[in-house]
Amino acid sequence: MTSFQIREKFLRFFQNENHKWLPSSSLIPQNDPTLLFVNAGMNQFKNIFLGLESPKDLNVTTIQKCLRAGGKHNDIENVGETPWHHTFFEMMGNFSFGDYFKKRAIELAWRFLVTELHFSEDHLWVSVFEEDEETYELWKNHIHIPEYKILRLGKKSNFWQMGDTGPCGPCSEIHYYNGKEKKPNPEDLIEIWNLVFMEFYDTETQERKPLPKPCVDTGMGLERLTCLVQKTKSNYNTDSFKEIIQSLEEHSPYQYNFLEHQLKEEQMAFRVIADHSRALSFLISDGVIPGSDGSNYVLRRIMRRALYYNQKLNPKVNLLEKATEKTIELMSSVYPYLKKERSLILSLIDEETHRFSKSLEIGRKKLKEKIKSSPNSFIDFKTAWDLYSTYGFPIDLTRLIVKENHCQIIDEKTFEKEKSLLEKNQKPSLGLEKNHLESLMKNFNPTLTHQETSFTGYEKDQAESSILFLFQEEESFSEVKKIEKNKMGWLVTEKTCFYPEGGGPIGDRGLLKTDTGEAEILDTLKKNKIIFHKIKVLEGTLNQNSSCKLIVNSEFRSLISTSHSATHLLHSSLRKLLGNTVRQAGSLVEPGYLRFDFTQAQPLTEKQLEILEKDICEKIQNKEEVSFKFLPYKQALQEGALSLRGENYDHEVRVIQIGKNTSKELCGGIHVKNLQEIKDFKIIMETGVQSGVRRILACTSSISEKWEEDLKNQVVELAQDLNFSKETLNQKENPFFQWEKEQNQKMDHLKKQIVNLQFINLKPNSSILSVKNSKSLAYPKVEHARRSILTKFNLELRKYLGISIPKKMESHNPFLDWAEKKQNQLETLQKQFDNVQSFFSKTKDLLKQSKPFKKGEIQGHLLIVNLPLKDRKLLAEIADQLKTKMSSGVIVAIGEDLKSHPIIVTVTKNLQKDISAGEFLKNELAPFLKGKGGGQNHFAQGSFSDKSQLSKLETFLLQSLKKS
Ligand code: SER
Repeated sequence: MTSFQIREKFLRFFQNENHKWLPSSSLIPQNDPTLLFVNAGMNQFKNIFLGLESPKDLNVTTIQKCLRAGGKHNDIENVGETPWHHTFFEMMGNFSFGDYFKKRAIELAWRFLVTELHFSEDHLWVSVFEEDEETYELWKNHIHIPEYKILRLGKKSNFWQMGDTGPCGPCSEIHYYNGKEKKPNPEDLIEIWNLVFMEFYDTETQERKPLPKPCVDTGMGLERLTCLVQKTKSNYNTDSFKEIIQSLEEHSPYQYNFLEHQLKEEQMAFRVIADHSRALSFLISDGVIPGSDGSNYVLRRIMRRALYYNQKLNPKVNLLEKATEKTIELMSSVYPYLKKERSLILSLIDEETHRFSKSLEIGRKKLKEKIKSSPNSFIDFKTAWDLYSTYGFPIDLTRLIVKENHCQIIDEKTFEKEKSLLEKNQKPSLGLEKNHLESLMKNFNPTLTHQETSFTGYEKDQAESSILFLFQEEESFSEVKKIEKNKMGWLVTEKTCFYPEGGGPIGDRGLLKTDTGEAEILDTLKKNKIIFHKIKVLEGTLNQNSSCKLIVNSEFRSLISTSHSATHLLHSSLRKLLGNTVRQAGSLVEPGYLRFDFTQAQPLTEKQLEILEKDICEKIQNKEEVSFKFLPYKQALQEGALSLRGENYDHEVRVIQIGKNTSKELCGGIHVKNLQEIKDFKIIMETGVQSGVRRILACTSSISEKWEEDLKNQVVELAQDLNFSKETLNQKENPFFQWEKEQNQKMDHLKKQIVNLQFINLKPNSSILSVKNSKSLAYPKVEHARRSILTKFNLELRKYLGISIPKKMESHNPFLDWAEKKQNQLETLQKQFDNVQSFFSKTKDLLKQSKPFKKGEIQGHLLIVNLPLKDRKLLAEIADQLKTKMSSGVIVAIGEDLKSHPIIVTVTKNLQKDISAGEFLKNELAPFLKGKGGGQNHFAQGSFSDKSQLSKLETFLLQSLKKS
């Protein structure tokens, strides 16, 4: 029986037992910040277990895509080591939402294994949670399993938790045992099926509370079951993996050897590449792109780990690509969208390979050297950190290589801390509103309300409703009965016409009126199925349970809907222009503005942007209709509607259609009725966000006119500030680039002067008071005037300076900042120039500090200079330089470093016969300072660490010079 047949059999069995078959949800959890990836079949039903959503069907069956890499369930490091573990796998399950419980769950599972898959009962053992007598009895008396085959196990293996928070409960597992012992070694039992009896949920405050209704959640890994059905030694020998591994063998000098029990390094490589090719294919097709944080980073780790093993099997061929091609071919019959995303998946592998292969080579070499030179088999945190920050080595790859060499990393915790700190600094924090909502949800008893807020606002922008819940900000968002004038908070109504933020568009704004008060609605968000309004009370008091009138700010909404429909247009035009691999990777829709991120490796050319803009404007001018209809999910996809995978659709979906064939997308949001409402569409800027993702900023409607007007004003303001004449602004050449060029020339001139100064005073190449070589700025080519000349200058400048659109059209002119910065740079350079100059003028003063000494016939000066410099070379240059200004004498230049401070001694030519710098340092200076050193007659160097004698040094040296 193939894995495909097992899949079919499972679904058919449960459908015949009155279970509704539902498709797998995306690997990316929806509305669940507690999880990075879907790690179990029950994730998509979490809200049903919690009683926050009512199920449409009480008995359900699924085959769910799961990923266990990161978070509570993380198997990545076991992949390849064991025959069973995977990052990506498919979990078959049946669920009861408050319907049947333990007895039927046990009966169904047993019957499927024994009568459908023909497992011999002799090989089936079971385990129960040690406190669960009821389940024990059921196995014993209902299924008639001999008692010695029912194991009572503890919390660790027989109590299932989704994560640190969420639904949980005792479980009972069915195991396969091939031996004949009555007391087998526990490791010889292979777990087949986990039946979880969900009864509790863990809250964020670490309380365990009962679920509204006990439920059943079962899970059986398809890959492991296939292995047992096909009687192979490992999952990798089943039809799910065999062909993938064979495709690797074709391109490698090694054989996987399907019968070999012993695991060699190369076999491990076969397994890892095969496993990871599946994980990455499904992740990418669910919208994940390799990146540096969250799920994107896990994908990158998976890809880089696979690339490391690729090196072992054959560094000359991209085996990961080969394995992935095979995976897509094999799995497309079940998951057809894999085929659709094929070119995107392969191009991202290609890109990641290029990005990482060089670093992998160098980093690996460096790590090996480090391992070799490490005396105690420990690799320090810093090495791991450098490998990560310089060569992009994920910590688990470093750990893997270190482990292969029988060493270990110390201080991994610091690594993770550093990383999250770095990420935190790079990532904008959650919006304040969302943070508020999170705190509010903590105080919100989920069992308070089962119903969802019904939304009535597609047709009307006003609604009559009543206030169900009020939460006041000053009460740390706990529930209150009323909110008074000027206070802020959140409010839930029975129904609402306010559309919440989601999928791009920001939430509606407007007013709420009751008999006793009035509030401004500042934002609208949705959590689970409840719509929350953020409010500020303007007049009177708002009371719980009072009737209210909700009034959406229709101007605001209509501007959002223009940008929203324009976003759909942009998406479809991009696909038309660049091909169907282009996919939405993020979206923000604001009144009159939109930001759209999409998968695409190369920047768009000016020409392409022009085509896009023209295409969209044409559709707007053609006044195409925008319509919507509700369809079953599958049918919507069959009709060609675009869906962001990552969305959970188990029933009817709303399809937005523009024109006849312009665009068709699944979307719940508010749109214009006819494209003419958009009025205008202008691309403001195109830029990269991360590897493989580009971003377009655009504006619509009256905002685009305002924007253009604003641009002109900003340019004129800047021009005035920089004293440009009107004529300059009319020329084709961008005057601001000209200005910048001049500024840069001035800076270059200053830099040269500084170097010259050093050259005159010291030797060339000195870096005294080092002037940072500011990166010379490249001048972008001036493109043809596409719009009015002023707009063009502004656009170029914006793009060049990476200035994104100002959120509101405020008077702030970002170009002035730029010009100011430029001027500041110039000033800083000027200051540095002055500093260098003054340092050299002070050398004369330094000479004045020298003290005369007399030794027999010889006369000279002793000069001791203390400088906060650790660079020996520089110190020596200074000492030499000072020497040229002294006719007869000894110069001791003392620097400063963390532990060991450098010393330089030079002696003028006339004295070198009598006073050797080397001897003087070695015999007098170094012993006095408890340091060391030596050299030749004219020059010597050394070091010391204890500065306590420094103040007495001069007196001592003058004495000893006299004597010697
Ligand atoms: N949630 C349980 C598991 O993942 C059963 O489906 O093992």
